[in-house]
Amino acid sequence: MVDADSFIDDAVEEIRDAVGDEHAIIALSGGVDSSVAAALAYRAIGDQLTPVYVDTGLMREGETAQIRDTFSYMDSLQVVEGEDRFLDALAGVTDPEEKRKVIGEQFIREFEREAKASDAQYLVQGTIYPDRIESEGNIKSHHNVGGLPDVVDFEGIVEPVRDLYKDEVRDVARELGLEEIISERMPFPGPGLAVRVIGEVTKEKVEVARASCHVVEDEVEKHDPWQAFAAVIGKGTGVKGDNRVHGWIVAVRSVESRDGMTARAQELPWETLQRIQSRITGENENVARVVYDVTHKPPATIEYE
Ligand code: XMP
Repeated sequence: MVDADSFIDDAVEEIRDAVGDEHAIIALSGGVDSSVAAALAYRAIGDQLTPVYVDTGLMREGETAQIRDTFSYMDSLQVVEGEDRFLDALAGVTDPEEKRKVIGEQFIREFEREAKASDAQYLVQGTIYPDRIESEGNIKSHHNVGGLPDVVDFEGIVEPVRDLYKDEVRDVARELGLEEIISERMPFPGPGLAVRVIGEVTKEKVEVARASCHVVEDEVEKHDPWQAFAAVIGKGTGVKGDNRVHGWIVAVRSVESRDGMTARAQELPWETLQRIQSRITGENENVARVVYDVTHKPPATIEYE
């Protein structure tokens, strides 16, 4: 296990040496890895760093406000409101891989504009050790803004947490004083809620997924899952008041895992499941049905797409 205190000193020095008097840019995703990389880089070079957070409209509830708040001490923070452009780009796209590609390309477009405006010569990334292993499978290409070095001519890439595992990054986050909501937050896929709505991404489906994910995170947190969330998986019939409705079917998933490669569906108490059902159908009038996913990985994946 890395000693967080001396790691921070070494990382700050390494970033300072690498960037010197030049400018650097980092894409903040809301996750712990890029948050730690940004906090280290800001400590090293201050406003020579431009942290860029792109609100894709596919983020978790309150995530954008959280980022603004946590990183408000960085005067150079840029928050890009991209929701409309992402939803436009995704209109009519139903294939899961095509969705990922469209989001990745749109992200690069948004970030490229900021990178050129900031005149950054260096790209800081929150790549961690397992990402480097997984990058062969290309899973995290959006998350780590893969492809950016090709469109913007950076002088160098700085990856201060490249040798750390997730639990070590969380240790460093705590040592840096980042809030618990960031240091302890469960993993979230780079393409965000787009992979938690099956088929075309629409604003309505994303809003149902976001509100439902919030309920699930809130109710399941005390059972300490690796990941717990909800997904909009289709439509079905229900009864609301005196009316039959054709509403959304929301699937709830909560899994235990060590590294995300394999996972076990969690055996949640019936009362917890009922409370989740009651909150999701109560707070979202267009949800007709809530189901619990009992499938392990394999044969299922953790996410729905
Ligand atoms: P799956 O669904 O493949 O997920 O069992 C394993 C872990 O990876 C996350 N995940 C992603 N992360 N970009 C990411 O950065 C992606 O496209 C992506 N797809 C899945 C997932 O949330 C889980 O933690």
